[in-house]
Amino acid sequence: MIDLERAFRERAGIRATHVVRAPGRVNLIGEHTDYNDGHVLPMAIDRWVGLAGAPRQDGRIVLHAMHRDERHESSLDNLAPVVGSGRHAHWSDYMLGVAHVLQQAGYRIGGFEAVVWGNVPRGSGLSSSAAVEVATATLLASMFDLKLDPRVRARLAQRAECDYVGVQCGIMDQFASSAGVAGHAIWLDCRSLESRALPLPLAAHEAEVWVIDSGVRRGLVDSEFNRRRQECQQAVKALGLALDRVDLASLRDVSPEDLNRVGTTLEPTLLKRARHVVGEIARVEQALRCLEAGDLGAFGTLMNESHRSLRDDYAVSIAELDYLVGSMQDTPGVFGARLTGAGFGGCCVAIARREARDEVENTILPAYRMKFDRSPTLWACQAVGGAEILVPELLTP
Ligand code: GLA
Repeated sequence: MIDLERAFRERAGIRATHVVRAPGRVNLIGEHTDYNDGHVLPMAIDRWVGLAGAPRQDGRIVLHAMHRDERHESSLDNLAPVVGSGRHAHWSDYMLGVAHVLQQAGYRIGGFEAVVWGNVPRGSGLSSSAAVEVATATLLASMFDLKLDPRVRARLAQRAECDYVGVQCGIMDQFASSAGVAGHAIWLDCRSLESRALPLPLAAHEAEVWVIDSGVRRGLVDSEFNRRRQECQQAVKALGLALDRVDLASLRDVSPEDLNRVGTTLEPTLLKRARHVVGEIARVEQALRCLEAGDLGAFGTLMNESHRSLRDDYAVSIAELDYLVGSMQDTPGVFGARLTGAGFGGCCVAIARREARDEVENTILPAYRMKFDRSPTLWACQAVGGAEILVPELLTP
């Protein structure tokens, strides 16, 4: 239980005028497709980043982090992006980045003070950073009376991460956090930002969505992530030449048939990266139809194929995730399992019958613990709505 209003009062010495929260997300399928203009299918989850704050008249930004008991102060008219500075990102940069891009986009904001709290595990592939960014945009919008619809808010939050923090992420995480719908997964076309909320047919199968945290914090993620992006761009160039389509803009515009035809002209690593992205975009389309038909079995098979592709072609898995995913895929009652998020550590996601949980908790997790000397955790998560303005009592996880 956390009383954010009180936490703010204790640190700032004044009452909070605004309290907001934004959720993390789990991606069901469609990994590393967002920055290739493809489709994704995430859902916002019942873990949040919460902020309480109040405006300041002196143009200062004062931030307090509860997880570190730290205070950070800077000035609104002197914000210095991490990008190009040679320094590492600090937790405050995810908030300052939002203030920066809002100003650059012409929104008028003032100084403010805020306390930040969260229960989205950090570095786990559940988008704690997107939740911080979206929560900050929500706080500033309510504080300074800005009109930001969930789509615009997601785009601004993404820009904070790309242009200020320097991770060239796609739009998926911020979109899910900003525009999630309770009880639904979000199908999103990352090129047009057309989206649909799809009910999850879990109850009919007595099924749940599980997130299993491997206990391995993501390493290498920024550098490897940016490298994958570059590889995709190189593949687009090479495919444009091979297909004689100079205007080819992204891997979204390459069909599986195109790739079969000319793929061998690509350098082997680029072919693998392209094969993952093109195949994954096709899998999201199939997954959408499975959800519409209520076919969790076929949906799970697509999740399994997605993991294989992320492991073998996109090369973003690690032994720990392969072990957890493989063991779950072999467990009766589990429809499908895969790593979720960028990879290199973090979590897997599975869709499974409730009754399979005992087997996983009593057999697979202890074996994993023994083998890797890590403490995994499993929770059945709920699909929740996107960022919201709150009264503090609602903030109990
Ligand atoms: C991270 C990024 C997202 C997306 C995923 C991989 O979470 O922030 O934009 O690219 O990795 O699907």
